[in-house]
Formats: sequence, C-alpha cells, structure tokens
Amino acid sequence: MEKVIYRPLTNNDEPFLWEMLFEAAKMAESRETIEEAKSNPTLSLYVNDFGNKPTDIGFLAIHKITKEKIGAAWVRLLIDNSKGYSFIDNGTAELAMATVKSYRNRGIGSKLLSLLIKTPQKKINAIGLSVRDSNPALRLYKRFGFKIIDQGKILNRVGGASYLMKLKLQN
Ligand SMILES: CC(C)(COP(=O)(O)OP(=O)(O)OC[C@H]1O[C@@H](n2cnc3c(N)ncnc32)[C@H](O)[C@@H]1OP(=O)(O)O)[C@@H](O)C(=O)NCCC(=O)NCCS
Repeated sequence: MEKVIYRPLTNNDEPFLWEMLFEAAKMAESRETIEEAKSNPTLSLYVNDFGNKPTDIGFLAIHKITKEKIGAAWVRLLIDNSKGYSFIDNGTAELAMATVKSYRNRGIGSKLLSLLIKTPQKKINAIGLSVRDSNPALRLYKRFGFKIIDQGKILNRVGGASYLMKLKLQN
C-alpha cells in the first residue's frame, strides 16, 4: 500500500499501543474494554512506559494523507518478574502487533514485522509470540519463519488454545 509511512515508536504512541494491544489480545471478542486491559498487570507490561529501555523496539504505520495511526508492531524483553503471556526464555523478546481493522490485508502488518526483524537488537536473540490456534495470523508468522516451539501449545488468557512461536534473529 503506497499511502503509508513507517517510523519507530516513541513514548507518545502509548495510547495507540493500548488500542493495538486490545486488538491483538482479541478483547472485544470476550466483551472486555480497554480500561480492563489497562488494569491487567500482565497486559500492562507490553505497553506501560514503552520506549524507556533500549530493548523496547517497534514501528508505527501512519496514513500519509490523513496522518491517522493505522498499525504497530513492537517487542519488549519481558523476563524475570515481568514475564508476559509469550515468555519463552531470557533472550527472547515478546511481540505484539495489530493493524486497524479497515486497513488489514494490505501488507501493512508484513511491512511492520519486516522492519522490526531487520532492526539490529542487542541483548535480543529471538522474537517470541503467542497466537490463538484459530487466528489467521498464524499463516503470517509461519511465512516470516516463526516456528511453534516444543510443547508450544498452551492455554491462553481466556482458556482457549494458543501456540507459542519463536523466530531466531540473525544478529
Ligand atoms: C495480524 C495483523 C497484525 C496482520 O496485519 P495485516 O496488515 O492484516 O497483514 P498483511 O496484510 O501484511 O498480511 C496478511 C496476513 O495477515 C493475517 N490476517 C489478515 N487478516 C487478519 C485478521 N483479521 N486477523 C488475524 N490475522 C489476519 C493473515 O495471516 C494474512 O495472511 P493470509 O493472506 O495468508 O491470510 C492484522 O491482521 C490484525 O491486526 N489482526 C487482528 C489482531 C491480531 O490477530 N493480531 C495478532 C495477535 S497474535
């Protein structure tokens, strides 16, 4: 899609990251609200103070004409006492990503993910994620080379089945 610009995320993008996390965590399906997301300590790990650490890396997609924010993909190293839902090991940062509904299937998510993967990342040697077994995004992740880890079928936040997937980085 030609009318999109991409830039690194900054602290000012936090409100939009909440919107995208709400989509990524499929919270509308379980009739949850963004306010409920914000009061969930594990979900908060993905967004609060994003950009404060060198291992917080992500990209934003913006519509070139309207300047509307239309998608984001980001990673955070969530380890020790701050493990997220996709914790795999201490060198693997957790991915979250979503695009605004009306802009899906136009290549924006793929572009965001490829920007993220190409960014040199000290201290991060892999990207991990969890995805519901019914989520079409599973195909996107497989295309990018993510592999379901051993014993990677897990019970997710709402009691359904998800896969834990990992992509080793080349750095
Ligand atoms: C997953 C997502 C970020 C991909 O962004 P995008 O801009 O649609 O992606 P692209 O156009 O580059 O790639 C299309 C791929 O995205 C995935 N996709 C498309 N629509 C989707 C949807 N509604 N839900 C989940 N994945 C979707 C599919 O894998 C699709 O590949 P396919 O052609 O083989 O079906 C975006 O669709 C989305 O926000 N979905 C809802 C939130 C979500 O599921 N996030 C991931 C949580 S693990």
